Amino acid sequence: MRGSTITGISIDGEALVERLAALASVGAIGDTDGACRLALTGEDRDGRNLVVAWMHDLGMDVSIDGIGNVVGTLAGAEPGPAVMCGSHIDTVRTGGRYDGNLGVLAGLEVVEAVQRSGIITRWPLAVGFFTGEEGSRFAPDMLGSLVYTGGLALEEALDIVGTDGAVVGEELERIGYRGSAPCPSPPPRAFVELHIEQGPILFAESIQIGVVTGVQGISWSEITVAGQSNHAGTTPMAMRRDAGLAAARVAAFVHDLAGEFGPPQVATVGRLELHPNLVNVVASDAVLTVDLRNTDEALLLEAEARLAAFLEDLAAGTGTGITTRRLARFAPVEFDPEMVARVERVAGELGLSHRRLCSGAGHDAQMFAPVCPTAMVFVPSWEGISHNPAEHTEPEHLEAGANVLLRVMLELAEVVEVRS
Ligand code: GLV
Ligand code: MN
Ligand code: MN
Repeated sequence: MRGSTITGISIDGEALVERLAALASVGAIGDTDGACRLALTGEDRDGRNLVVAWMHDLGMDVSIDGIGNVVGTLAGAEPGPAVMCGSHIDTVRTGGRYDGNLGVLAGLEVVEAVQRSGIITRWPLAVGFFTGEEGSRFAPDMLGSLVYTGGLALEEALDIVGTDGAVVGEELERIGYRGSAPCPSPPPRAFVELHIEQGPILFAESIQIGVVTGVQGISWSEITVAGQSNHAGTTPMAMRRDAGLAAARVAAFVHDLAGEFGPPQVATVGRLELHPNLVNVVASDAVLTVDLRNTDEALLLEAEARLAAFLEDLAAGTGTGITTRRLARFAPVEFDPEMVARVERVAGELGLSHRRLCSGAGHDAQMFAPVCPTAMVFVPSWEGISHNPAEHTEPEHLEAGANVLLRVMLELAEVVEVRS
């Protein structure tokens, strides 16, 4: 049958849930649903190998680039840039099974549905997973997609040193994922990322689909405090140069700053290391991270300036030396209005409840936004919990999101033939 009809084609929701479970068993965290596959570790390699094997099973052409991004492509009737979806399969240390993984594995189910239905698209369909989206081992976050889209030179990315002292280029070699496909890569025709919301809005409002309008700005810094270790029992309070105290004051300051600014400003000290970290020793050194986010670039700049001024006063007040290193900085991103409207229309046509919202989390899609028409689809996160092994999304929501992804991709890739 020739024509452009795509009614009656849908995702196999059970197969999607099964793939998510199989991938989560790689790096499983005890008997939880979660997984730990920090970027470029052995667990990440094993997860990658599984997804690459699935891509080959689907007859996709698989390419790996110099930063380890993997793209599987299903040919269309005509050559040309693909309509791409994807996300990441690396996790934070306390990862759930849906963050990132959903966007990649739903992409495989899109390919499977297309093949099952005998659909031939005009343009190729591609599914990618991008290296080191989480940023918790190697900063910045969205590392692979940043290099893929030309936002960071490959040579610079390969030299990045992780929290454990490992180097990106060496780890890529070690796990066998330093590929030869060029990066930056020519942009795809369009990019669509399905992801769990990771926040409370859709769950609280019992809405099935989030139509993502953009991603808020992200500012990450690492703050190092140098004080003096000394005896906790004998050193008078006035004579201390306490790095632990300074670190605690930073955490309290950014918390209060977010309170003063009000939503959507958020602020987090997520990593804090004290040295020598002993009960009876004043800490000589502290290393901590600050994560500031806001949808408004001017306010984010103001928050950064307020923090910098605070750190200057803090160093003087505590007799410590304080230095700051930028780990990541991304301005807020707005997605292509036509793509956003397309996602919204498709969700409506499928009879799914939906609302527009801005993403609080960072995503690979934000790196694609400057180079091609880009959109995101969100599905609800149970109680808004994410970056936690308890992360959960109901199977019917996974399936609904994947069906929106399928429709949007088929529209963009143009169905030219349906073989019965
Ligand atoms: C990525 O998961 C982020 O920190 O938003
Ligand atoms: Mn993610
Ligand atoms: Mn994440």
